[in-house]
Amino acid sequence: MPGTSEPFRVGLLGHGTVGSAFARLLPERAAHVEAITGLRPELSGVLTRSRGDFADILERCDLIVELMGGVDPARDYVLRAMRAGRHVVSANKLLLSQHGEELWAAAREHGVQLRFEGAVAGVVPVIRVLQETLAAAHVERIHGIVNGTTNFILTEMADRGVTYAEALGRAQELGYAEADPTDDVTGKDAAAKMAILARLAFSTPVHLDQVVYEGIEHLTADDMAYARDLGLGLKLIGTAERVDGGISVRVHPAFLYAGHPLASVNGPFNAVTVESEAITEITMSGPGAGGAQTASAVLGDVISAMIPPASTPETTARLEVVEDVVSAFYLHMEVADRPGVLAQIAELLGMQGASIKSVVQRGLGDNARLVMVLHPLLESRFFAAVQLIAQLDFMRAPPRAIRVIDEEFT
Ligand SMILES: NC(=O)c1ccc[n+]([C@@H]2O[C@H](COP(=O)([O-])OP(=O)(O)OC[C@H]3O[C@@H](n4cnc5c(N)ncnc54)[C@H](OP(=O)(O)O)[C@@H]3O)[C@@H](O)[C@H]2O)c1
Repeated sequence: MPGTSEPFRVGLLGHGTVGSAFARLLPERAAHVEAITGLRPELSGVLTRSRGDFADILERCDLIVELMGGVDPARDYVLRAMRAGRHVVSANKLLLSQHGEELWAAAREHGVQLRFEGAVAGVVPVIRVLQETLAAAHVERIHGIVNGTTNFILTEMADRGVTYAEALGRAQELGYAEADPTDDVTGKDAAAKMAILARLAFSTPVHLDQVVYEGIEHLTADDMAYARDLGLGLKLIGTAERVDGGISVRVHPAFLYAGHPLASVNGPFNAVTVESEAITEITMSGPGAGGAQTASAVLGDVISAMIPPASTPETTARLEVVEDVVSAFYLHMEVADRPGVLAQIAELLGMQGASIKSVVQRGLGDNARLVMVLHPLLESRFFAAVQLIAQLDFMRAPPRAIRVIDEEFT
């Protein structure tokens, strides 16, 4: 029964963008976590520069979530927590890419978990996949778009033909770039993430200092125009690969052919492609940052630390299966080429609340082909309209409909 289990006390270090989102998410999802783990998670202390005492928080917690960022004092706190037998969850790529070996050794020595899904590609579960799902795969290469700020800037430059400075300004306005964007635009942030991915993929120590990186500050609108003419995309790509018995880890701008799985990753999104002979290739993509998104990855790590790794999933909800959903549609019709046809079709669609996004009409002798894309609407209403349209006397063939995935992320 929810609310009657033993508490599981979480000490939180940092209450900024991610920390405050985590502090909101934990009570919201506590009953769900309790149903899965049999323990009721609660926030037992919060540390910022102006409140809380680390020793006191450590004393009164079962697990530490580190969302302060930076190397000092985060390194000291994380080490002290693990030495005191506490599991640690962190999203701190800078810390892990510089002191990972020391921290993982401490976790092993003290028999605690150090989890860090949020440190690379936000909520995209790339750490878990490398550590668990692909633990037996011999990874050959990883390519990643692991910095959402630079990917947003490059997408703006490509789509709008604006300069680097203009695109950066827009990223700052929208909150995708910090007031000081240096770590992002120079490639350093991506380099730290690639160091962590390379460490996991190849099971060899990789320090941030060993990653060669180049940023996007020197790219121009001309580079983008050239890429477009050739059907290429220009992205900031992190690569970690086996080379001649060793490894190479680097970050730099690169052109991608349109068919590459990373070519279509646009805006502030992240994606990572893992290649191995056994698995061929898999690509994971999604939001690479953001308070709520990263907090969700952090809470996932907290749950993992609360339960033995191979637990059987419990049913914690009974959700209704929804059959009538909202979709956008492509509608293809062959009609007699005469006045008033489009108006009648539009009227039948309008009666069901369908609105037309675009129409293309092509003549076919006495007939015409009408192709429309409709804005999203309930499928039942769309098909009701199509049934009526099919009966119109000028229809030369049954109308054909195909759903359109029509999601916009900005
Ligand atoms: N933001 C994202 O979208 C994102 C995504 C993935 C990973 N991350 C990682 O998550 C971590 C947190 O990022 P964030 O964006 O949430 O940072 P943030 O907004 O700057 O917040 C940092 C928090 O840590 C506290 N803090 C910093 N130094 C401290 C110290 N010496 N002693 C006590 N408290 C201290 C700050 O306290 P005050 O409130 O007193 O200043 C603040 O509450 C970083 O490692 C970052 O790389 C962030």
